[in-house]
Amino acid sequence: MTLSAIETTGLSKRYPGGRGVADLDLTVQHGEVFGFLGPNGAGKTTTMKMILDLIRPTSGTIRVLGLDPVTQGAELRAQIGYLPGELVLEGSENVGEMLGFFAQLQGNVDPAWVDELAGRLELDRSRKVKSLSKGNKQKVGIVQAFMHRPALLVLDEPTSGLDPLMQQVFLDLVSEARDRGQTVFMSSHILSEVQEVADRVAIIKDGRLVTVSTVESLQRRAVSQVEIHFGEPFRTEDFTSLAHVGGVRAEDRVLRCVVDGSVDALVKQVARYRVEALFCHKPDLEALFMDEYVKEGASVAH
Ligand SMILES: Nc1ncnc2c1ncn2[C@@H]1O[C@H](COP(=O)(O)OP(=O)(O)O)[C@@H](O)[C@H]1O
Ligand SMILES: [Mg+2]
Repeated sequence: MTLSAIETTGLSKRYPGGRGVADLDLTVQHGEVFGFLGPNGAGKTTTMKMILDLIRPTSGTIRVLGLDPVTQGAELRAQIGYLPGELVLEGSENVGEMLGFFAQLQGNVDPAWVDELAGRLELDRSRKVKSLSKGNKQKVGIVQAFMHRPALLVLDEPTSGLDPLMQQVFLDLVSEARDRGQTVFMSSHILSEVQEVADRVAIIKDGRLVTVSTVESLQRRAVSQVEIHFGEPFRTEDFTSLAHVGGVRAEDRVLRCVVDGSVDALVKQVARYRVEALFCHKPDLEALFMDEYVKEGASVAH
């Protein structure tokens, strides 16, 4: 057993137009769920395709499950479940026939497990594949990726097109996979969709890694959003120059601000007034993501 499931050093891909990824040093440990996060165009799909040897690096190295994707691709693909970002499913067969075909290609597939996957995702296997909605095609892709219980799942934007209920079913499948010892490397541009299951996340921007961290420590590092409802009028100026407090906005008897670090100064100032309610929001990764971008001085698109 090698130390890590995926290891890249100085991994770079330059397209003729210039973009791609640059100098990626990434380590995904065996048995962890690793979220690969970034906005559209950041380089997530490019990285995943290099892991699968669907495209070749311009420079740098990759080891996946201890193997070299370029020279040991066949051996490697048998141990990987891959959900492509641009999933194209066509053909005149129905879902059941297509899954049967995938199972045959893959080998070593337990039909009862395919039944369970399709059932939990509420996939109607009598439907023609080409008549399926984007969300239902995505479910076929997910079943296909999970069906052989691969050592490594590489899932490119797996939750795209799934409704919230199915997103939850999917997240359950991911955490069960981890419980069985499988490794999951999944990308998303919607952070709240991965924070529930990810052990660690990497944030990629413009082809470069911005952060690699546990979800927990990202959250610890992030600013808290505080909202205070006063029982009497207050002076906004009392709050605008407190230590660790920023973004102060006042409206009627409500004060909103963000706290970066200790809340001590804020709490003591607040206590000078009558307080009806106080809310402190733990930020989700969405807010953190914005934070990383703001720190980097980049513009943020919604
Ligand atoms: N085949 C290609 N030829 C040229 N540029 C590409 C190609 N594929 C992706 N790119 C560019 O590389 C960057 C990263 O793309 P991609 O990996 O698809 O990002 P993501 O999956 O994070 O949305 C983008 O700027 C994209 O336009
Ligand atoms: Mg992509």
